[in-house]
Amino acid sequence: MRIPFIAGNWKMNLSVTESVEFLDAIRGKLPNPDEVQTAIAASPLFLETMLRNNQGSPLIISAENCFYEDEGAYTGETSPKALAEMGITHVIVGHSERRKYFNETDDVINKKVQAVFRNHMIPIVCCDETMGRRESSNHISWVVSQVTAALKGVDIEQARQVIIAYEPSWAIGSGKTASTEEAEEGCYLIRQTIADLYSDEVANQVRVLYGGSVNDDNANKILAQKDIDGVLAGGASLKPDSFVRLANFQENN
Ligand code: PGA
Repeated sequence: MRIPFIAGNWKMNLSVTESVEFLDAIRGKLPNPDEVQTAIAASPLFLETMLRNNQGSPLIISAENCFYEDEGAYTGETSPKALAEMGITHVIVGHSERRKYFNETDDVINKKVQAVFRNHMIPIVCCDETMGRRESSNHISWVVSQVTAALKGVDIEQARQVIIAYEPSWAIGSGKTASTEEAEEGCYLIRQTIADLYSDEVANQVRVLYGGSVNDDNANKILAQKDIDGVLAGGASLKPDSFVRLANFQENN
């Protein structure tokens, strides 16, 4: 059984102080992690403080990005080795904003996935899709090619742990969520790609998330889809109340 994974991505929002206020506000309100896992990805500037203030909570504190080398002359980059040493267990890799504003290519994203695994963390790999590609009906090959490229060189045991988020860029921050059929189609495609690359058994274990204007109103319908195991929420994860509602989606059923 795949345990649902409800993740927030704060992006470049909030402050260290606000991150602590957020953790205080959600304390004791998250589901049992054997039933639903929850995570917040935040700026590297917040991580140490958040880890310290999160002790005893089931919330996973995740990084939003890292570099693909462990150390060296890479001014301004975040070392995956240092993240792991700090106690970080999950890292978002290849978010569409990284692809768009920081020119991250499939090759860079693959190196980052390998760096995250090398440091015994779990990558939350994002796979985007543009409206242009959807309208010209080549979104399917695009999604397949991103997943295939991101997982190059990833062995079967690592593949079982990976979390993949289908995040059409036209739905991110736009208030325009994909329809449940579109979201399911993207997540199904990702699962099929994993089955082709590894096996049906691995594909049945991998958690696939949907992201793009998810909120506590639309989450239940999205999460009811067969191939959608969780969500990656940006805007809706910034307020403690709405994150807690998202995390407890099973109670709203
Ligand atoms: P959004 O962002 O929920 O604000 O659309 C999602 C994401 O970028 O991960």
